[in-house]
Amino acid sequence: MPIQFSTARRAPARAEVVAHGLTVEALTGDGPLPAGLDSGDLGRLGFTAEADQVQVVPAEGRLVVAVGLGPADGVDPAGLRRASATLARAVRGRRSLALDLASVTDVVPGPEAARAVVEGTALALYRFGYKSTKDEDRLAKVTLVGSTAAGVRTAVDQAVAVVEGVKLARDLVNEPGGSLTPPKFANRVRRMARDSGLTVKVMDEAAIKRARLGGLLGVSRGSTQPPRFVELTYTPRGRPKGTLALVGKGLTFDSGGLSIKSGVGMMDMKMDMGGAAAVVGAMSVLPVLAPRCRVRAYLPMTDNMLGGDATRPGDVLTIRNGKTIEVLNTDAEGRLVLADALSVASEAKPDAIVDLATLTGACMVALGPRIAGLMGRDDGFLAQVEGASARTGERVWRLPLPADYRRMVDSPVADMKNIGGPHGGAITAGLILGEFVADGIPWAHLDIAGPAFADGDDSEATRGGTGFGVRLLVDLACSFTPGG
Ligand code: BES
Ligand code: MN
Ligand code: ZN
Repeated sequence: MPIQFSTARRAPARAEVVAHGLTVEALTGDGPLPAGLDSGDLGRLGFTAEADQVQVVPAEGRLVVAVGLGPADGVDPAGLRRASATLARAVRGRRSLALDLASVTDVVPGPEAARAVVEGTALALYRFGYKSTKDEDRLAKVTLVGSTAAGVRTAVDQAVAVVEGVKLARDLVNEPGGSLTPPKFANRVRRMARDSGLTVKVMDEAAIKRARLGGLLGVSRGSTQPPRFVELTYTPRGRPKGTLALVGKGLTFDSGGLSIKSGVGMMDMKMDMGGAAAVVGAMSVLPVLAPRCRVRAYLPMTDNMLGGDATRPGDVLTIRNGKTIEVLNTDAEGRLVLADALSVASEAKPDAIVDLATLTGACMVALGPRIAGLMGRDDGFLAQVEGASARTGERVWRLPLPADYRRMVDSPVADMKNIGGPHGGAITAGLILGEFVADGIPWAHLDIAGPAFADGDDSEATRGGTGFGVRLLVDLACSFTPGG
């Protein structure tokens, strides 16, 4: 059951836990502390209101909790999200929580604070697993104490919807590659689309052959599982304010193919559909948030296996748009399936395309585990993506696509090869993708190899699939300005 969020002016008397967000100034200043908290007691317990610190204080039949937010002038939504996540984990065995943010609403506007708190608490308690013994969380009700203004209530409702989209993306990523096969993935997306009022079209293997999606077919060739290509459409009420296309890499498992990965290297490769999962999660939320643009999603789904007829290094594939790729490393498969998807997306002439893909280890080397690489064409559109990133706290960092690097993927026999040299792997992958986006269409590529999956709990992220990209994509759809 999802946690129920509400707003109230005062903490409900029944709340089992009452938490107060405290800044260093609130703790050390002269003003009175909220009921149940005493600066002397807190000091003796070692509580200094440092960011992310949580101190539980038993008081009169309920728990009072102090949550550290650091210096008042440094409080931001990311800090609130992190502190809320820590708080939620500390009180996960309790049924009801009231969280008072009176000390921060001067610094962070109420709606933004509310969104961060909902995301932090709800997402930190996300769980997935096949354990035969379950330890159930009990937290069922969270009350945000402070403003009940319409703007705050709307922010709460929208954040609750977005959180469900993030949880869906996490569920999809966490599902093992042997149980979430391409046909099952497509069926799950079809069900979601019907439940939420999106239009859905699923292409099976025969339809994919008729459409000449040579990249997708080449990758799928080593597998006994057939591929799928799924298209989703969100149509707004009234005249659409442009069309945004979303493309997501949907490798349900990436063994590397004949250029096989090491055992350690493929351990987490059920996550290689993290891009498609983020797109699906975001699409599932759009009917609730009702942006004014049309949004179309393109999801190539396959696994990358090494059956007897698998694509061999040296094989040449012809992509949907007619360009040819010499496959020298079968583990560089994401770009092959995305090439088809970007070609198909381009044919519908959208106002912009954004793709998400767990594409390269090189991008993780460059930016670490929690920041996505952002590449593409059209500064105005890339700035819109950066805006969505800044507002949602899903971090991205720009990498260049220098034209003179294109020769790193020159092939003696085809239009290009599927790997570059030893360096700049995130960029050469981006340059290959760019070959399949029709000229003139603004395009952003997000390499989410790092942030799609987490080794352990961290702020609102939980071990496994993070759902990275859902919040950013939903924000982007809601703020999208064609030609802007
Ligand atoms: N799915 C992987 C990229 C990846 C690696 C994602 C680690 C998440 C964590 C992708 O298909 C891949 O194997 N890329 C190769 C490309 C190389 C062969 C040019 C890589 O990054 O090593
Ligand atoms: Mn690979
Ligand atoms: Zn891959």
